[in-house]
Amino acid sequence: MTLRVLARQEAQAELALPRSTYDYYAGGSGEEITLESNLAGWRGYRLRPRVLRDVAEVDTSTEVLGTRLAAPVVVAPSALHGLAHPDGEVATAAGTADSGSLLCLSTRSSVPLEEVAAAGSGADWWFQVYVMRDRELTEGLVRRAAAHGAKALVLTGDTPYVGLKKRTTEGLSVGSLHLANLAQHVAGGVVDQRATEQDPGIGLDVIGWLHEVSGLPVVVKGVLRGDDARDCVSAGAGGVLVSNHGGRQLDRAVPTALALPEVVEAVGAEVPVLVDGGVRTGVDALVALGLGASAVLLGRPVLWALAAAGRAGVTQCLDAVRADLAHVMALAGARSVAELPEGLVTR
Ligand code: FNR
Repeated sequence: MTLRVLARQEAQAELALPRSTYDYYAGGSGEEITLESNLAGWRGYRLRPRVLRDVAEVDTSTEVLGTRLAAPVVVAPSALHGLAHPDGEVATAAGTADSGSLLCLSTRSSVPLEEVAAAGSGADWWFQVYVMRDRELTEGLVRRAAAHGAKALVLTGDTPYVGLKKRTTEGLSVGSLHLANLAQHVAGGVVDQRATEQDPGIGLDVIGWLHEVSGLPVVVKGVLRGDDARDCVSAGAGGVLVSNHGGRQLDRAVPTALALPEVVEAVGAEVPVLVDGGVRTGVDALVALGLGASAVLLGRPVLWALAAAGRAGVTQCLDAVRADLAHVMALAGARSVAELPEGLVTR
């Protein structure tokens, strides 16, 4: 069922969006090997369901870093939602809140974070940070996010330089859109391209720095190895997000479904481990949870939903994945996220 809702929304988005925007969203880096294998990764696992476990009531709700969620399904940070819908991140925030989910807002939002925070009408949200060459700009941004109610920072660690995409983005027209979060704090509203690039020279110490500046837990995004996860937690990370940026950074990076068990093994007892990349169904999410993830994030499906039907589309997408998860949890003999059967997932 989820597949049907998500496939319909993607088809509608493909019709609604200019080709260059569709390609910008859909594409991956290099030969798109990681992009493809993210999807295949989840499908490579099999489930070992339990029977006769009274699944008349299934509870998908959970809590991650103090945020209550209707289901462990969260919206991944992605740039410039204004390309998908005129209301941009305002629609995403409202639709996400309607579904009881959590928006992780990108630094590269097309709407200022203050407006996005207001649109969620009180719902928790997290803020994704690129530590830019202009460190004061970064600090100001993070302070603004904390002041407007962000409950965690998500530090993207896998983007020292932007991955080169196979599908051309040459024709990508951003019209009057701009990086609204950054423009506000720059003289004359003109963003210096170089100053807002991710600083390729940052190291593990920025984790502590961001925590100090914001007072918020810092989740490191882009972790694909147990030893890296350990180093991030030692440096003060409050969580790790297993991600290869949806196959948009290092091509041939391992699919996240394969990296997840190693990261859970390394730090799962201490901090929440989240995962994204190719999660499209309730079963994908159940596999991730069974492997020890605290929650999954959806990237492209939410962009398609936004392009297809704005705020309502986003709610529909998240509700569909949540309903699908509840259904497959029942079939697997899992009454709640907290009490998943031991040994649920096998290869
Ligand atoms: C992204 N992603 C991303 N990540 C991030 O930390 N900051 C960002 O600004 C963006 N921007 C962005 C734009 C677009 C168009 C896409 C598709 C992705 C990566 C995103 O957070 C997430 O890791 C992946 O999208 C997850 O994979 P799926 O669900 O798209 O397969």
